[in-house]
Amino acid sequence: MSTASEPPARKEGEEAVRDRIRLGVLISGTGRTLQNLIDRIRDGRLEAEISVVISSRDGVPGIERAREAGLPTSVLRRREYRDDEEYGEAIARELDVRGARLAVMAGFLHLFRFPERWKGRVLNIHPALLPKYGGKGFYGRRVHEAVLAAGERESGCTVHWADLEYDHGPVLLQKKVPVLPGDTPESLAERVFAAECEAYPEAIERIGRGAARWD
Ligand code: GRF
Repeated sequence: MSTASEPPARKEGEEAVRDRIRLGVLISGTGRTLQNLIDRIRDGRLEAEISVVISSRDGVPGIERAREAGLPTSVLRRREYRDDEEYGEAIARELDVRGARLAVMAGFLHLFRFPERWKGRVLNIHPALLPKYGGKGFYGRRVHEAVLAAGERESGCTVHWADLEYDHGPVLLQKKVPVLPGDTPESLAERVFAAECEAYPEAIERIGRGAARWD
């Protein structure tokens, strides 16, 4: 006999599927960050699913990685829209239609000027300890060159909620790495990227279990 305190009967696997956070991943290039998320979801280290991969460019390796993983993809080119606002609305609509709940920028090289309904649901990862070495023009190798030129002793990565400026918005978590004597932009980039591969899934996992949000 069932009592009021018993949880309702559930079909096997139903809870896990319902609770899994649905991601829309925004890319522009190689998609290494996307690949890391795919791998971690696949081997069970990240409780999430990817509803769509949106790329600002066609023919980039990131799109291939998404297709190989059997994920829905969509190419939305900035130049086909009048301004950032129209572009942001198109991205948001695609995310909505595909059922994504959290947008994850993963090497996305344009401003995502998202509409109000997406505020607090867009994440970015940056390969430096923001607010240093961020903003328009600070991407890829340039970030690490600037860190080395400034003689910094440490660098790292930042996961933050995106607002409507490049590399700006409340910080969710940072991971630090040392800058070592003899570092080149490449060797530093590699060390920072390894930290990113831990930081992004960790941030997504926190959001998924309701432990982090932008109030
Ligand atoms: C990472 O360094 C990330 O911080 C930045 O883009 C780089 C990843 O690009 N936002 P990708 O995943 O290799 O395309």
